[in-house]
Amino acid sequence: MKADLEFKYHTQANKNHESFKKETLLEYLGRFKKIIESESVGFFRLSEDTTQLKAAKKMFEKFKHKKHFVQVGIGGSALGPQALIDALKSDKKVKFSFMDNTDSEYIADLLDEVNPQEALFYIVSKSGGTAETVANFSIARNFLKKNGIKEEGLKDHFVFCTDPNSGHLRELARKEGFACLEVPSNIGGRFSVLSNVGLLPALFAGISIDDLYAGANDIKESLLTEDVEENILLQSAAHIADLYRTAQPAVNQTVFMPYSSRLKTLSHWFVQLWGESLGKIRSIDSANVGLTPIPAYGATDQHSQMQLFMEGPSDKILMILEIKNRKTDFELDSSLGMEPAQKLSPYTLNQLLEAQINGTLQALKAQKKHVIHMSISENNARNMGAMALFFESLTALMGEYLDIDPFNQPGVELGKKYAYEYLKNLS
Ligand code: PA5
Repeated sequence: MKADLEFKYHTQANKNHESFKKETLLEYLGRFKKIIESESVGFFRLSEDTTQLKAAKKMFEKFKHKKHFVQVGIGGSALGPQALIDALKSDKKVKFSFMDNTDSEYIADLLDEVNPQEALFYIVSKSGGTAETVANFSIARNFLKKNGIKEEGLKDHFVFCTDPNSGHLRELARKEGFACLEVPSNIGGRFSVLSNVGLLPALFAGISIDDLYAGANDIKESLLTEDVEENILLQSAAHIADLYRTAQPAVNQTVFMPYSSRLKTLSHWFVQLWGESLGKIRSIDSANVGLTPIPAYGATDQHSQMQLFMEGPSDKILMILEIKNRKTDFELDSSLGMEPAQKLSPYTLNQLLEAQINGTLQALKAQKKHVIHMSISENNARNMGAMALFFESLTALMGEYLDIDPFNQPGVELGKKYAYEYLKNLS
Protein backbone atom coordinates (compact mmCIF):
# COMPACT_ATOMS: atom_id res chain seq x y z
CA MET A 1 0.00 0.00 0.00
CA LYS A 2 1.33 3.43 -0.98
CA ALA A 3 1.88 6.29 1.48
CA ASP A 4 -1.40 8.16 1.82
CA LEU A 5 -0.83 11.39 3.74
CA GLU A 6 -3.90 13.66 3.32
CA PHE A 7 -4.52 17.27 4.26
CA LYS A 8 -7.49 19.47 5.13
CA TYR A 9 -7.01 23.16 5.89
CA HIS A 10 -9.23 24.91 8.42
CA THR A 11 -7.54 28.24 8.94
CA GLN A 12 -8.37 31.93 8.86
CA ALA A 13 -5.73 32.48 6.17
CA ASN A 14 -6.90 34.94 3.54
CA LYS A 15 -7.34 32.77 0.46
CA ASN A 16 -7.81 35.91 -1.68
CA HIS A 17 -4.42 37.16 -0.63
CA GLU A 18 -1.51 37.33 -3.04
CA SER A 19 0.06 34.30 -1.27
CA PHE A 20 -2.56 31.95 -2.72
CA LYS A 21 -2.45 33.22 -6.32
CA LYS A 22 -1.39 30.56 -8.78
CA GLU A 23 1.59 32.55 -10.04
CA THR A 24 2.87 33.14 -6.49
CA LEU A 25 2.55 29.47 -5.64
CA LEU A 26 4.32 28.49 -8.84
CA GLU A 27 7.07 30.96 -8.10
CA TYR A 28 7.64 29.27 -4.72
CA LEU A 29 7.54 25.87 -6.37
CA GLY A 30 10.30 27.09 -8.69
CA ARG A 31 12.33 28.28 -5.73
CA PHE A 32 11.83 24.96 -3.93
CA LYS A 33 12.95 23.03 -7.00
CA LYS A 34 16.05 25.16 -7.24
CA ILE A 35 16.94 24.31 -3.63
CA ILE A 36 16.46 20.56 -3.96
CA GLU A 37 18.33 20.43 -7.25
CA SER A 38 21.34 22.26 -5.87
CA GLU A 39 24.50 20.23 -5.20
CA SER A 40 24.71 21.37 -1.61
CA VAL A 41 21.24 20.13 -0.56
CA GLY A 42 20.79 16.37 -0.69
CA PHE A 43 17.79 15.42 1.45
CA PHE A 44 15.19 15.31 -1.33
CA ARG A 45 17.13 13.09 -3.71
CA LEU A 46 18.36 10.70 -1.00
CA SER A 47 15.60 8.13 -1.53
CA GLU A 48 16.22 7.99 -5.28
CA ASP A 49 19.50 6.18 -4.80
CA THR A 50 20.04 2.86 -3.04
CA THR A 51 23.62 3.54 -1.88
CA GLN A 52 22.67 4.28 1.72
CA LEU A 53 20.20 1.37 1.87
CA LYS A 54 22.83 -1.07 0.68
CA ALA A 55 25.51 0.20 3.05
CA ALA A 56 23.18 0.06 6.05
CA LYS A 57 22.04 -3.48 5.21
CA LYS A 58 25.62 -4.66 4.83
CA MET A 59 26.59 -3.20 8.18
CA PHE A 60 23.50 -4.73 9.81
CA GLU A 61 24.49 -8.19 8.54
CA LYS A 62 27.82 -7.83 10.28
CA PHE A 63 26.43 -6.79 13.66
CA LYS A 64 22.90 -8.21 13.76
CA HIS A 65 23.74 -10.60 16.61
CA LYS A 66 23.91 -7.61 18.99
CA LYS A 67 20.97 -7.35 21.35
CA HIS A 68 21.39 -3.80 22.59
CA PHE A 69 21.70 -0.89 20.16
CA VAL A 70 23.02 2.28 21.79
CA GLN A 71 22.89 5.38 19.61
CA VAL A 72 25.44 7.99 20.67
CA GLY A 73 24.60 11.34 19.07
CA ILE A 74 22.67 14.52 19.66
CA GLY A 75 20.21 16.75 17.78
CA GLY A 76 19.66 15.41 14.29
CA SER A 77 22.00 12.53 15.03
CA ALA A 78 19.58 11.15 17.63
CA LEU A 79 16.06 12.53 17.22
CA GLY A 80 15.20 11.11 13.80
CA PRO A 81 16.30 7.57 14.67
CA GLN A 82 14.49 7.82 18.00
CA ALA A 83 11.30 8.91 16.23
CA LEU A 84 11.55 5.97 13.82
CA ILE A 85 12.14 3.44 16.58
CA ASP A 86 9.34 4.74 18.79
CA ALA A 87 6.92 4.82 15.88
CA LEU A 88 7.67 1.51 14.22
CA LYS A 89 9.84 -0.83 16.30
CA SER A 90 8.64 -4.38 15.74
CA ASP A 91 11.65 -6.48 16.82
CA LYS A 92 11.18 -6.82 20.55
CA LYS A 93 14.43 -8.74 21.02
CA VAL A 94 16.67 -5.72 20.50
CA LYS A 95 16.89 -3.07 23.20
CA PHE A 96 17.51 0.59 22.26
CA SER A 97 19.12 3.37 24.23
CA PHE A 98 20.12 6.90 23.28
CA MET A 99 23.18 8.57 24.75
CA ASP A 100 21.95 12.00 23.70
CA ASN A 101 22.72 14.13 26.71
CA THR A 102 25.62 15.12 28.93
CA ASP A 103 23.72 14.37 32.11
CA SER A 104 25.80 12.02 34.25
CA GLU A 105 22.80 10.65 36.17
CA TYR A 106 21.05 9.76 32.94
CA ILE A 107 24.20 8.20 31.46
CA ALA A 108 24.83 6.19 34.64
CA ASP A 109 21.26 4.84 34.60
CA LEU A 110 21.59 4.00 30.92
CA LEU A 111 24.90 2.14 31.32
CA ASP A 112 23.48 0.19 34.25
CA GLU A 113 21.19 -1.45 31.71
CA VAL A 114 23.94 -2.31 29.22
CA ASN A 115 25.44 -5.78 28.98
CA PRO A 116 28.84 -4.94 27.43
CA GLN A 117 29.08 -8.19 25.46
CA GLU A 118 25.73 -7.64 23.76
CA ALA A 119 26.01 -3.93 23.06
CA LEU A 120 26.69 -2.10 19.83
CA PHE A 121 27.42 1.61 20.20
CA TYR A 122 26.53 3.62 17.09
CA ILE A 123 28.58 6.83 17.25
CA VAL A 124 26.84 9.35 14.99
CA SER A 125 28.23 12.79 14.30
CA LYS A 126 28.09 14.46 10.91
CA SER A 127 30.81 16.91 11.85
CA GLY A 128 32.73 14.29 13.82
CA GLY A 129 33.58 16.59 16.69
CA THR A 130 30.44 17.50 18.65
CA ALA A 131 31.40 17.79 22.33
CA GLU A 132 28.40 15.89 23.75
CA THR A 133 28.89 12.99 21.35
CA VAL A 134 32.65 12.83 21.79
CA ALA A 135 32.21 12.86 25.58
CA ASN A 136 29.69 10.01 25.45
CA PHE A 137 31.87 8.09 23.01
CA SER A 138 34.75 8.29 25.51
CA ILE A 139 32.46 7.19 28.33
CA ALA A 140 31.17 4.23 26.30
CA ARG A 141 34.72 3.20 25.41
CA ASN A 142 35.89 3.43 29.03
CA PHE A 143 32.81 1.48 30.14
CA LEU A 144 33.58 -1.36 27.73
CA LYS A 145 37.23 -1.49 28.72
CA LYS A 146 36.37 -1.44 32.39
CA ASN A 147 34.05 -4.35 31.78
CA GLY A 148 36.62 -6.60 30.22
CA ILE A 149 36.55 -5.70 26.54
CA LYS A 150 40.14 -5.61 25.30
CA GLU A 151 41.45 -2.76 23.12
CA GLU A 152 41.50 -5.06 20.07
CA GLY A 153 37.92 -6.16 20.78
CA LEU A 154 36.48 -2.63 20.72
CA LYS A 155 35.88 -2.82 16.97
CA ASP A 156 33.17 -5.40 17.64
CA HIS A 157 31.26 -2.86 19.70
CA PHE A 158 31.44 0.37 17.71
CA VAL A 159 30.13 1.56 14.37
CA PHE A 160 30.66 5.19 13.39
CA CYS A 161 28.52 7.32 11.10
CA THR A 162 29.98 10.58 9.86
CA ASP A 163 30.90 12.74 6.88
CA PRO A 164 32.49 10.67 4.09
CA ASN A 165 35.61 12.80 3.83
CA SER A 166 36.22 15.08 6.75
CA GLY A 167 36.15 15.31 10.53
CA HIS A 168 37.89 13.71 13.50
CA LEU A 169 35.63 10.68 13.63
CA ARG A 170 36.34 9.84 9.99
CA GLU A 171 40.04 10.22 10.68
CA LEU A 172 39.86 7.91 13.71
CA ALA A 173 37.88 5.31 11.74
CA ARG A 174 40.57 5.34 9.07
CA LYS A 175 43.45 5.22 11.51
CA GLU A 176 42.09 2.53 13.83
CA GLY A 177 39.94 0.54 11.40
CA PHE A 178 36.53 1.10 12.99
CA ALA A 179 33.47 0.24 10.87
CA CYS A 180 32.06 3.47 9.51
CA LEU A 181 28.97 4.52 7.55
CA GLU A 182 28.54 7.77 5.66
CA VAL A 183 26.22 10.72 6.08
CA PRO A 184 26.33 12.34 2.63
CA SER A 185 28.20 15.66 2.74
CA ASN A 186 25.15 17.56 1.51
CA ILE A 187 22.84 16.33 4.27
CA GLY A 188 22.84 18.10 7.63
CA GLY A 189 21.88 16.49 10.95
CA ARG A 190 18.23 17.44 11.14
CA PHE A 191 17.63 16.39 7.52
CA SER A 192 19.39 13.04 7.97
CA VAL A 193 16.73 10.68 9.31
CA LEU A 194 16.52 8.79 6.00
CA SER A 195 20.30 8.49 5.69
CA ASN A 196 22.46 5.90 7.46
CA VAL A 197 21.89 7.93 10.63
CA GLY A 198 18.37 6.47 10.84
CA LEU A 199 18.66 3.45 8.57
CA LEU A 200 20.99 1.29 10.68
CA PRO A 201 18.94 1.61 13.91
CA ALA A 202 15.77 1.09 11.84
CA LEU A 203 17.12 -2.26 10.63
CA PHE A 204 17.86 -3.36 14.20
CA ALA A 205 14.27 -2.42 15.10
CA GLY A 206 12.84 -4.60 12.34
CA ILE A 207 11.67 -1.63 10.25
CA SER A 208 11.61 -2.00 6.47
CA ILE A 209 14.02 0.64 5.22
CA ASP A 210 12.92 -0.09 1.64
CA ASP A 211 9.43 0.98 2.68
CA LEU A 212 10.76 4.18 4.26
CA TYR A 213 12.31 5.08 0.92
CA ALA A 214 9.25 3.94 -1.04
CA GLY A 215 7.09 6.21 1.13
CA ALA A 216 9.36 9.20 0.54
CA ASN A 217 9.20 8.50 -3.19
CA ASP A 218 5.40 8.04 -3.12
CA ILE A 219 4.87 11.57 -1.85
CA LYS A 220 7.17 13.38 -4.27
CA GLU A 221 4.51 13.89 -6.91
CA SER A 222 2.22 15.69 -4.46
CA LEU A 223 5.12 17.94 -3.40
CA LEU A 224 6.12 18.85 -6.93
CA THR A 225 2.86 19.00 -8.86
CA GLU A 226 2.08 22.26 -10.67
CA ASP A 227 -1.57 21.69 -9.92
CA VAL A 228 -1.23 24.16 -7.06
CA GLU A 229 -4.58 23.34 -5.44
CA GLU A 230 -3.47 19.73 -5.04
CA ASN A 231 0.10 20.46 -3.97
CA ILE A 232 0.24 19.71 -0.22
CA LEU A 233 3.62 21.39 0.15
CA LEU A 234 2.64 24.67 -1.53
CA GLN A 235 -0.75 24.80 0.20
CA SER A 236 0.68 24.10 3.66
CA ALA A 237 3.48 26.65 3.26
CA ALA A 238 1.12 29.30 1.85
CA HIS A 239 -1.28 28.89 4.79
CA ILE A 240 1.50 29.13 7.37
CA ALA A 241 3.25 32.03 5.60
CA ASP A 242 0.06 34.00 5.08
CA LEU A 243 -0.87 33.64 8.76
CA TYR A 244 2.66 34.61 9.79
CA ARG A 245 2.68 37.70 7.60
CA THR A 246 -0.87 39.00 7.58
CA ALA A 247 -3.00 37.52 10.39
CA GLN A 248 -3.97 39.58 13.43
CA PRO A 249 -2.49 38.48 15.76
CA ALA A 250 0.41 37.19 13.69
CA VAL A 251 0.80 33.43 13.81
CA ASN A 252 4.34 32.71 14.97
CA GLN A 253 3.94 29.36 16.72
CA THR A 254 3.51 25.94 15.16
CA VAL A 255 2.09 23.00 17.05
CA PHE A 256 2.56 19.48 15.73
CA MET A 257 0.14 17.13 17.46
CA PRO A 258 -0.11 13.53 16.32
CA TYR A 259 -2.87 11.58 18.05
CA SER A 260 -0.56 8.72 18.92
CA SER A 261 1.84 7.84 21.73
CA ARG A 262 4.08 6.08 19.25
CA LEU A 263 4.45 9.35 17.33
CA LYS A 264 5.19 11.47 20.38
CA THR A 265 8.90 11.48 19.51
CA LEU A 266 8.10 12.43 15.92
CA SER A 267 6.77 15.71 17.28
CA HIS A 268 10.14 16.25 19.05
CA TRP A 269 11.94 15.48 15.80
CA PHE A 270 9.72 18.09 14.10
CA VAL A 271 10.52 20.63 16.81
CA GLN A 272 14.25 20.36 16.15
CA LEU A 273 13.87 20.44 12.37
CA TRP A 274 11.57 23.47 12.44
CA GLY A 275 13.21 25.37 15.29
CA GLU A 276 16.85 25.02 14.33
CA SER A 277 16.16 25.58 10.63
CA LEU A 278 13.81 28.57 10.77
CA GLY A 279 14.77 30.50 13.90
CA LYS A 280 17.32 32.92 12.45
CA ILE A 281 18.53 36.49 12.19
CA ARG A 282 17.58 37.49 8.65
CA SER A 283 20.60 38.96 6.92
CA ILE A 284 18.85 41.62 4.81
CA ASP A 285 17.29 43.47 7.74
CA SER A 286 18.66 41.75 10.89
CA ALA A 287 15.10 40.82 11.87
CA ASN A 288 14.70 37.88 14.26
CA VAL A 289 12.41 35.42 12.49
CA GLY A 290 10.97 31.99 13.19
CA LEU A 291 7.85 30.08 14.09
CA THR A 292 8.27 28.59 17.56
CA PRO A 293 7.58 24.85 17.34
CA ILE A 294 5.53 23.24 20.08
CA PRO A 295 5.47 19.47 20.56
CA ALA A 296 2.22 17.87 21.58
CA TYR A 297 0.41 14.55 21.28
CA GLY A 298 -3.16 13.49 21.63
CA ALA A 299 -5.27 12.58 23.33
CA THR A 300 -2.93 13.13 26.32
CA ASP A 301 -2.32 16.84 25.69
CA GLN A 302 -6.05 17.49 25.53
CA HIS A 303 -5.65 17.52 29.31
CA SER A 304 -2.62 19.77 29.20
CA GLN A 305 -1.94 22.33 26.48
CA MET A 306 -5.30 22.10 24.68
CA GLN A 307 -6.94 24.65 26.95
CA LEU A 308 -4.28 27.14 25.81
CA PHE A 309 -4.67 26.16 22.15
CA MET A 310 -8.43 26.53 22.44
CA GLU A 311 -8.78 29.78 24.37
CA GLY A 312 -5.30 31.32 24.44
CA PRO A 313 -4.03 33.78 21.80
CA SER A 314 -4.70 32.85 18.17
CA ASP A 315 -0.97 33.03 17.43
CA LYS A 316 -0.62 29.33 16.64
CA ILE A 317 -1.24 27.02 13.76
CA LEU A 318 -1.93 23.44 14.83
CA MET A 319 -0.96 20.54 12.62
CA ILE A 320 -3.09 17.71 13.93
CA LEU A 321 -2.26 14.24 12.67
CA GLU A 322 -4.85 11.49 12.72
CA ILE A 323 -4.13 7.79 12.18
CA LYS A 324 -7.29 6.30 10.69
CA ASN A 325 -6.66 2.62 11.46
CA ARG A 326 -4.78 0.81 14.20
CA LYS A 327 -3.69 -2.82 14.39
CA THR A 328 -5.18 -3.26 17.85
CA ASP A 329 -8.26 -2.22 19.76
CA PHE A 330 -9.99 -2.75 23.10
CA GLU A 331 -13.65 -3.20 23.90
CA LEU A 332 -14.82 -0.70 26.50
CA ASP A 333 -17.62 -3.07 27.47
CA SER A 334 -17.91 -2.79 31.21
CA SER A 335 -19.90 -4.02 34.12
CA LEU A 336 -18.59 -1.18 36.29
CA GLY A 337 -21.36 0.42 38.24
CA MET A 338 -20.47 3.98 37.27
CA GLU A 339 -22.14 6.19 34.69
CA PRO A 340 -19.05 7.22 32.63
CA ALA A 341 -18.12 3.55 32.16
CA GLN A 342 -21.68 2.68 31.08
CA LYS A 343 -21.65 5.50 28.53
CA LEU A 344 -18.46 4.16 26.98
CA SER A 345 -19.54 0.52 27.12
CA PRO A 346 -20.88 0.16 23.54
CA TYR A 347 -17.66 1.47 22.00
CA THR A 348 -14.00 0.59 21.53
CA LEU A 349 -10.85 2.49 22.53
CA ASN A 350 -10.18 3.44 18.89
CA GLN A 351 -13.69 4.86 18.58
CA LEU A 352 -13.09 6.90 21.71
CA LEU A 353 -9.87 8.35 20.25
CA GLU A 354 -11.65 9.06 16.95
CA ALA A 355 -14.35 10.91 18.84
CA GLN A 356 -11.72 12.87 20.77
CA ILE A 357 -9.93 13.98 17.59
CA ASN A 358 -13.16 14.96 15.91
CA GLY A 359 -14.51 16.71 18.98
CA THR A 360 -11.28 18.70 19.32
CA LEU A 361 -11.22 19.61 15.63
CA GLN A 362 -14.82 20.78 15.77
CA ALA A 363 -14.19 22.87 18.88
CA LEU A 364 -11.01 24.42 17.40
CA LYS A 365 -12.95 25.34 14.27
CA ALA A 366 -15.74 26.83 16.37
CA GLN A 367 -13.12 28.99 18.13
CA LYS A 368 -11.77 30.03 14.70
CA LYS A 369 -8.34 28.60 15.46
CA HIS A 370 -5.93 27.74 12.67
CA VAL A 371 -5.71 24.03 11.98
CA ILE A 372 -4.15 21.80 9.36
CA HIS A 373 -5.75 18.38 9.72
CA MET A 374 -3.38 15.72 8.45
CA SER A 375 -4.25 12.05 8.22
CA ILE A 376 -2.69 8.73 7.31
CA SER A 377 -4.49 5.41 6.98
CA GLU A 378 -2.02 3.69 9.30
CA ASN A 379 1.25 4.15 11.12
CA ASN A 380 3.70 2.27 8.90
CA ALA A 381 7.16 2.69 7.40
CA ARG A 382 5.82 4.00 4.10
CA ASN A 383 3.88 6.80 5.77
CA MET A 384 6.80 7.56 8.07
CA GLY A 385 9.10 7.98 5.05
CA ALA A 386 6.49 10.22 3.43
CA MET A 387 6.07 12.37 6.55
CA ALA A 388 9.82 12.74 6.99
CA LEU A 389 10.18 14.04 3.45
CA PHE A 390 7.09 16.23 3.73
CA PHE A 391 8.31 18.03 6.86
CA GLU A 392 11.86 18.38 5.54
CA SER A 393 10.49 19.87 2.32
CA LEU A 394 8.12 22.18 4.17
CA THR A 395 10.99 23.40 6.33
CA ALA A 396 13.18 24.07 3.29
CA LEU A 397 10.36 25.96 1.56
CA MET A 398 9.51 27.99 4.67
CA GLY A 399 13.13 29.14 4.62
CA GLU A 400 12.28 30.82 1.30
CA TYR A 401 9.21 32.52 2.75
CA LEU A 402 11.22 33.77 5.72
CA ASP A 403 14.19 34.65 3.53
CA ILE A 404 16.73 32.79 5.66
CA ASP A 405 19.06 29.84 5.20
CA PRO A 406 17.33 26.84 6.83
CA PHE A 407 20.43 24.65 6.56
CA ASN A 408 22.79 26.40 8.98
CA GLN A 409 22.69 27.05 12.74
CA PRO A 410 24.99 30.00 13.55
CA GLY A 411 23.22 30.68 16.86
CA VAL A 412 24.16 27.38 18.45
CA GLU A 413 27.74 27.67 17.22
CA LEU A 414 28.26 30.73 19.40
CA GLY A 415 27.05 28.86 22.50
CA LYS A 416 29.51 26.05 21.74
CA LYS A 417 32.39 28.52 21.46
CA TYR A 418 31.55 30.06 24.84
CA ALA A 419 31.17 26.63 26.47
CA TYR A 420 34.71 25.68 25.38
CA GLU A 421 36.05 28.99 26.72
CA TYR A 422 34.29 28.28 30.03
CA LEU A 423 35.84 24.80 30.16
CA LYS A 424 39.30 26.25 29.59
CA ASN A 425 38.82 28.56 32.56
CA LEU A 426 37.78 25.61 34.72
CA SER A 427 41.16 23.99 34.20
O1 PA5 B 1 20.68 19.52 12.73
C1 PA5 B 1 21.85 19.73 12.99
O2 PA5 B 1 22.70 19.99 12.13
C2 PA5 B 1 22.33 19.66 14.42
O3 PA5 B 1 21.27 19.55 15.32
C3 PA5 B 1 23.23 18.45 14.59
O4 PA5 B 1 22.54 17.27 14.29
C4 PA5 B 1 23.80 18.38 16.00
O5 PA5 B 1 24.40 19.59 16.34
C5 PA5 B 1 24.83 17.28 16.08
O6 PA5 B 1 25.82 17.50 15.13
P1 PA5 B 1 26.77 16.37 14.63
O7 PA5 B 1 25.94 15.35 13.93
O8 PA5 B 1 27.74 17.05 13.72
O9 PA5 B 1 27.44 15.79 15.84
